[in-house]
Amino acid sequence: MGSSVFKIFLMMAGCSFSLMPAQQKDVKLFFQRTCAACHGLDGSARGLNGQKLPGRVLSDARWQGSKKDADLVKSILKGKGGMPSFQSQLSEAEVETLVAEIIRPLAARKK
Ligand code: HEC
Repeated sequence: MGSSVFKIFLMMAGCSFSLMPAQQKDVKLFFQRTCAACHGLDGSARGLNGQKLPGRVLSDARWQGSKKDADLVKSILKGKGGMPSFQSQLSEAEVETLVAEIIRPLAARKK
C-alpha cells in the first residue's frame, strides 16, 4: 500500500519533469521582473513614465558593439558598480541565453 503511493508519486514527478524539457529559467520573464527595474523593459534605463532608472542604457548599439558577450556575462554574474551579482539566481548558461536573446536584440530596437 505504502509503496503504491510512492509509485504514483514517482509517476507524477516524472510527468512534471517532462513538462519542462528546458531546465533553464524563462530569461525574458526574469529580465522583465528583475533587470527592468533598473534598465527598463526596452533597455533604455527609463521607466514606464519616462523616469530615469539607476541602470545603464543597454539599448545603445555603439556601446553594445564595444562589448563581448563574455564581458556582459561576467558583469551580470559577478555584478558591476551599482549592479548586484546574479550568480546565486542565474546559471552561467542562463546568463548567456539572457545576453543573446534579450540584451543583444535591445540594441536593434528603435527607442
Ligand atoms: C539595482 C539596479 C540593477 C539591476 C537590478 C540590474 N542592473 Fe544591470 N546595471 C546596473 C548598473 C548601475 C550598471 C552600470 C555598472 C557600471 O558600469 O558601473 C549596470 C550594468 C549592466 C550591464 C553592462 C555591464 C558591463 O560590462 O558594462 C549589463 C549587461 C547589465 N547591467 C545587465 C543586467 C541584467 C541582465 C540584469 C538582470 C539579471 C541587471 N542588469 C540588473 C544596475 C542594475
